[in-house]
Amino acid sequence: MAGPLGFLGDEVAELRRRHLYRALRAHSSAQGPEVEIDGRRLVSLSSNDYLGLTHHPRLRAAAVAAVEEFGVGTGAVRTIAGTLTMHEALEAELAEFKQVPAVLTFQSGFTANTGVIPVLAGEGDLIVSDSLNHASIIDGTRLSKAARAVYPHADVGGLRAVLDEAVAGGRYRLVLVVTDGVFSMDGDIAPLPAIVEAAEAAGAAVMVDDAHGSGVLGRDGRGTVDHFGLHGRVHVQVGTLSKAIGSLGGYVAGPTALRELLTQRARPFLFSTSHPPAVVAACREALRVLVDEPDLQERLWANTRRFKAEMARLGFDIGRSETPITPVMTGDPETAMRMADLLLDDGVFAQPVVFPTVALDQARIRTIVTAAHTPEHLERAVTAFGRAGKAVGLAG
Ligand SMILES: Cc1ncc(COP(=O)(O)O)c(C=O)c1O
Repeated sequence: MAGPLGFLGDEVAELRRRHLYRALRAHSSAQGPEVEIDGRRLVSLSSNDYLGLTHHPRLRAAAVAAVEEFGVGTGAVRTIAGTLTMHEALEAELAEFKQVPAVLTFQSGFTANTGVIPVLAGEGDLIVSDSLNHASIIDGTRLSKAARAVYPHADVGGLRAVLDEAVAGGRYRLVLVVTDGVFSMDGDIAPLPAIVEAAEAAGAAVMVDDAHGSGVLGRDGRGTVDHFGLHGRVHVQVGTLSKAIGSLGGYVAGPTALRELLTQRARPFLFSTSHPPAVVAACREALRVLVDEPDLQERLWANTRRFKAEMARLGFDIGRSETPITPVMTGDPETAMRMADLLLDDGVFAQPVVFPTVALDQARIRTIVTAAHTPEHLERAVTAFGRAGKAVGLAG
């Protein structure tokens, strides 16, 4: 492409040369443990559909009923004419589920983070962030006028050192410690009890982004804070409705005054149209399914244990995960891309994750098993991984 945008083609070519260009793999089927890509049925290990709720009959029925009664869109942002009673009902139900005073929903987990962080922390405040926090936390921090400090991943000693310095300086209105509850690329759980203790000692507030903990950890999937029994000691929780909840959206859970201020100041909330009725109805039904069908969480964890054990037996480096996210480490991006191609040829869809999502030398195939996978799916997946691993020299 010539002209002023000519550099775009050069940048794409450079990404391809460095094995960092990720092809979009279009599915011609619904999301699920098996998907159809290019006319082939494949076992999928790449969705965040932890509990199989994207295609659950109760969520589908709730969404269809909402479309019939309320149509397909809201036609306005929440603050003008885009708040339906069902939006507020979802928020009240989420608040009860999370055992917090108030919840405000956003269009996605990403916008929940970019919306809440600049409202919570501004000039004269300090944001203290784990080095592996999600991109939406990083972007939310960039949008804030607060000072920032990053501590090494999950290193509570490192966090304490930052907090000690902040307290000694005594110059901040608010010190806000922000961490993923479950780290999205590695699957490890934040050492939340120790983080909370360190924050309490320093008079700091704690915010947990529980995108990958929601529906996965804690009683009925109430998340990481519930998993550790830290209710009342974590000030702000962010959750997503786009992963285990099966639909789309994000939310901020915390004090009533925070919800109120967000409705006045959070820019994605103020300047972007609200969720369509089908999405809201599906999310509300999902919360009921979480409570009514605990076997979904049990199957998710049984599949997780089984898959991890088999992958470790094959000799793969599966990192430090404690959750259904299982990274299969390849190191360099080229091996990750090659392995994903081999898996695809062998009937398994498992996407490589490369820079900038992870560090350049930390490429991996990132897998997630779900409650919807059968033992046969898992066996097919493990067999294909064994063959691909041998071909690239990663498994015996
Ligand atoms: C830790 C974390 N936070 C936030 C998000 C964004 O959530 P959503 O997909 O709902 O925008 C993700 C999803 O990738 C995530 O992993």
